[in-house]
Amino acid sequence: MDERKRNRVPPVFFAEETGSTNTDLRAMALRGAESGTVLFARRQSAGRGRQGRCFLSPEGGLYLSYLYRPRVGAEKLWTLTGLTATVLCGTLSAMGAADCRIKWPNDVLLEERKLAGILTETVWQGEEAAVIIGIGLNVNTRSFPAELSGIATSLSLSTGRDWPTEALSEALIADLDAALIRWEEDRGYFLPRYRALWPHEGRRVLAQGREAVAMGIGDDLSLLVAYPDGSREALRFGEVTVKGLYAEGSALEG
Ligand code: BTN
Repeated sequence: MDERKRNRVPPVFFAEETGSTNTDLRAMALRGAESGTVLFARRQSAGRGRQGRCFLSPEGGLYLSYLYRPRVGAEKLWTLTGLTATVLCGTLSAMGAADCRIKWPNDVLLEERKLAGILTETVWQGEEAAVIIGIGLNVNTRSFPAELSGIATSLSLSTGRDWPTEALSEALIADLDAALIRWEEDRGYFLPRYRALWPHEGRRVLAQGREAVAMGIGDDLSLLVAYPDGSREALRFGEVTVKGLYAEGSALEG
């Protein structure tokens, strides 16, 4: 692991290969790493996704973990994944990929396929929270295994050109730095943008195994669904399959 010299005080570390940048950064957090410390890797041999899944992490992707220690209380930490998805869409748009969308709660889609995933994990050190925000972005990945065909995409596959992974990571880190400062002042500032990036209002979904219709995104970033019997629910966590998106029931849903 080496440190990349940048115009930024918290350090940015780079590893050619590691198991999981989230696991490494968690250990660094427990040893006292400062807020804003970043670790990114060219490859991960044991990349982790949500719901205990693996996250395929071959060379060509951007695998980045960002340590965030809230300075003003630990309210609404769960919204950091949605914030990060919104920030990532903004970074990608500024760099020329304008059509990214969000699948609740925090997958980033391009052309209705999964371009990026986010795994946020919180470590408590006494009363203090340390949040590891992990982002896996398929940048120049040229092919995916058969089980991800029709489900995953990369920037290069969607746009037909290679993308500069280092420049993307620098822009994303700067955007996250700025977004987290704003979020500390106003936990919900990004919600209008998140909602605008969420294209599934009115779509049929499977929510925890039940058929429902997606109605909207709540102020706490919950997914509001309506069931055929007229009842409604605000989902904060769990599995949601959007009908017609990906191969239905695939392992990437959630
Ligand atoms: C998901 O889609 O389920 C979330 C995937 C998160 C993957 C990133 S890659 C960088 C960081 N390190 C990990 O092991 N996971 C996250």
